[in-house]
Amino acid sequence: MKNDTSPIIVRTQGGSYPVLVRAGSMADLGSVAAERVRGRSALVVTDSNVAPLHLAAARASLDAAGFRTASHVVPAGESSKNLASLSALWSAMHDSGLTRSDLVVALGGGVVGDLAGFAAATWMRGVAVLQVPTSLLAFVDSAIGGKTAIDLPFGKNLAGAFHQPVAVLEDPLLLRTLPPRELRQGMAEVVKCGCILDADFFAWLETLPPEGPMAPEDMERVVRTCAAMKADVVSRDEREGGLRMLLNFGHTVGHAVEKSLGYGVVAHGEAVAVGMVAAARMGEASGVTESGTALRVESLLRRLSLPSRLSDVPAIDGGLHAICDAMLSDKKRAGSAVNFVFLESVGRAVVRPVPVTDLLSALSGAVGFESV
Ligand code: GLY
Repeated sequence: MKNDTSPIIVRTQGGSYPVLVRAGSMADLGSVAAERVRGRSALVVTDSNVAPLHLAAARASLDAAGFRTASHVVPAGESSKNLASLSALWSAMHDSGLTRSDLVVALGGGVVGDLAGFAAATWMRGVAVLQVPTSLLAFVDSAIGGKTAIDLPFGKNLAGAFHQPVAVLEDPLLLRTLPPRELRQGMAEVVKCGCILDADFFAWLETLPPEGPMAPEDMERVVRTCAAMKADVVSRDEREGGLRMLLNFGHTVGHAVEKSLGYGVVAHGEAVAVGMVAAARMGEASGVTESGTALRVESLLRRLSLPSRLSDVPAIDGGLHAICDAMLSDKKRAGSAVNFVFLESVGRAVVRPVPVTDLLSALSGAVGFESV
């Protein structure tokens, strides 16, 4: 079956924008950009891993469409999402003479998308950004929806803005250069999409062969399904008043695991995988989640070679107490409770507050944290 290549539309208060999913669409970057902005200066922001692979193609396409193109390369990794990198990027915007009608192109994974997006949100009170994701995680989640941020010494993503892109250009061919661990961690967010909103998609994921690279048409289906789901959620709840919170399934425990271990020890998607199983088990123990759901989620994650329990990741100093402390300092805390996303069943998610006083027992009673 030939995959659909029509644009997915995100509708926001500031207007609509397309998410273009098509193999080979990188060649269209310049023409898409020329349709979306008036200015003809573009600054491509990318990182040291992506630059040797895709920067030349991005620049060539922009140049061919009549843009005066400059680039700014940051070191790969989360440490580039800080105030010093933001400041250096503002300098690069100044040096390239970027005006309000011009364009920032964020060519990279979540770090580049967040940093370049936030720089664009703040430069001259807001300049257009076009997201060109290069990691699976960014394809299915972070490039769509306008969340931008940098990390501060006190915590992750603490300074940020909602700044919707003018377009998101997703070329699945770019995923061919991703290291296997990167692809795997992106699959955790893909599984999340099925868990929260699409039981049929989850069931289809369960039928994919566990070994070997995914067939290109299957990867395109994965990307398109998740991008369409994210676009729909953002269109209905741009500022995370309700529905968008469901995208945080697995992230409350996941973020806490990442933070307690020290960022970079486990990949974000790996921590989210552990968090999804934890949330499913907690939900089953409290009666919110249909029994057998946690096992199904865990089996799929294991087929995809993802961790599913704390015993699969390095030991955390302070164990469950450290994880609880990290959860309590999370942005998602709501007074004396932590808002948790639970599954009622595969494909149906709900948000329920868990009182802070119950957190430790809920975690230790419901999840396979036997190694802690
Ligand atoms: N990554 C979650 C969101 O965009 O809301």
